[in-house]
Amino acid sequence: MTDWRDQLAKQLQQRQHDGLLRSLRDVDRPGRVVRRDGRDLINFASNDYLALAGCERLAAAVAESAQRFGVGSGASALIAGHAAPHAELEARFAKFKHAAAALLCPTGYTANLAAVTALVRPGDLVLMDKLNHASLIDAARLSGATVRVFPHLGYAKLQRLLEAATAPRKLIVTDAVFSMDGDCADLPALCELRDRSGAMLLVDEAHATGVLGATGAGLAEHQAVAGHVDVTVSTASKALGSLGGLITAEQLVIDTIVNHARAYIYTTAAPPTQCAAIGAALDVVRDEPQRRARLAELAQHLRAELIAAGWQVPLANAPTPIVPVITGDAGRTVHLADRLEQAGLLVAAVRPPTVAANASRLRLSLRSDHTDADLTRLLDALGKPAA
Ligand SMILES: Cc1ncc(COP(=O)(O)O)c(C=O)c1O
Repeated sequence: MTDWRDQLAKQLQQRQHDGLLRSLRDVDRPGRVVRRDGRDLINFASNDYLALAGCERLAAAVAESAQRFGVGSGASALIAGHAAPHAELEARFAKFKHAAAALLCPTGYTANLAAVTALVRPGDLVLMDKLNHASLIDAARLSGATVRVFPHLGYAKLQRLLEAATAPRKLIVTDAVFSMDGDCADLPALCELRDRSGAMLLVDEAHATGVLGATGAGLAEHQAVAGHVDVTVSTASKALGSLGGLITAEQLVIDTIVNHARAYIYTTAAPPTQCAAIGAALDVVRDEPQRRARLAELAQHLRAELIAAGWQVPLANAPTPIVPVITGDAGRTVHLADRLEQAGLLVAAVRPPTVAANASRLRLSLRSDHTDADLTRLLDALGKPAA
C-alpha cells in the first residue's frame, strides 16, 4: 500500500505538472499598492472595491470597540456570544438592505452554508446557476436536497425545471454579481419565476453590496427589486473592507436559521470589533457616494480600452468592478500574470478548478482609489493579445 505522504505529494506534483499548483505569497498589507518580495505592485487583485480595508475611519471604530468590548465574542451566538453591538448592527443592516431582519455570521462562506442548509433538506430542490460561488455549491450539497444546475443566466431552463418540480420546497440560488465573470443576474426575472412557482429566492450579493445601487445596497436596489428577494447574503469582506456574512430576510427565515443552521449554531459569534468595522463601512458607503461613482467610471473605462485593444472581455457594459480578460490556457494566463508582475502590477491568474477548463483568465479588479495613471500603466503593460 502506498504511504499517504506519497499519495499527497503525487497529487501536488500533478497540479504542478498541469500548471495549477497554488501557493501562498505574502504581501505587506492590503492597499492600492502592496509590497511583495521587496517590490511595490499596484493592486488589481483585491476585492477591496471601495478601498476600505485600510481606511482610517474603520480602523478607529475597531480600536474603540476593542477598548470597550474586547477582541472576542467569547461564545457561540446562542450561548452568550451575541451582544448589543451585534443586535445594533443587524438592525441597521436590515434597514440598509430594505429587509425586515438580519443576522451576522463570521464570514460570507458560513452565512451561505447557514442560509441554504436551514431552508432546504433532503427531498427538497435547489436550483443553482452554473457559475455560482463555491460556497453556494458546498451549501447546496451539504443541505442534502436534490441539486439541479441551470446554464449560466439560463432562465428558460430554470423555468422548465421549476414547472417540472414536485419537491415540497424549491430554492433558487444565484450570485448577484458573478465573482469570476463580473456579470449580473437578472433579479426581476428571477423574482417573477419565484412568484409563479412558489419557490424561495436566495441571492448572494457578495460583490454587489456597497458597489451597486443608489445607496450602495446592491444589485436588487440597482435593478429596482430591493425588498423583493426572499433571502440575501452579503459579505463584509469585499467592498465593506473587513469580514463577516450578513443574511437579510423576513424574521421567519432568520428564526429558522438560528434554530436549524449548524453553520450558525456551532461556531463562535463574530467579535464586536467586526460589528464596529461593518458599521463604520456603512457610514462611509452612506457619506461618500463618490467612491461608488469613481469605481463605475474606472470599470467602464477599463472595459472599453481592453476591448479596443482586442482582448476578450465579456459584457462591455457590465456595471461591476470585476473585469475578466479571458485568456483560455492556464499556462498562458500564469505567464501573462508573471509578466504584469514584472511590470509592477498585481493581477490574479484564475485557473481551473475555479473556472472551467480552457476558461482561464486574468481577473482584474478595480478599487475606487486607483488613479488614471494606474489604469494607463496596466493597459500599457498588457498591450495587445498575441495574434
Ligand atoms: C460570491 C461569493 N460569495 C461568498 C463568498 C464568501 O465570502 P467570505 O470571503 O466573506 O467568506 C465569496 C468570496 O469569497 C464570494 O465571492
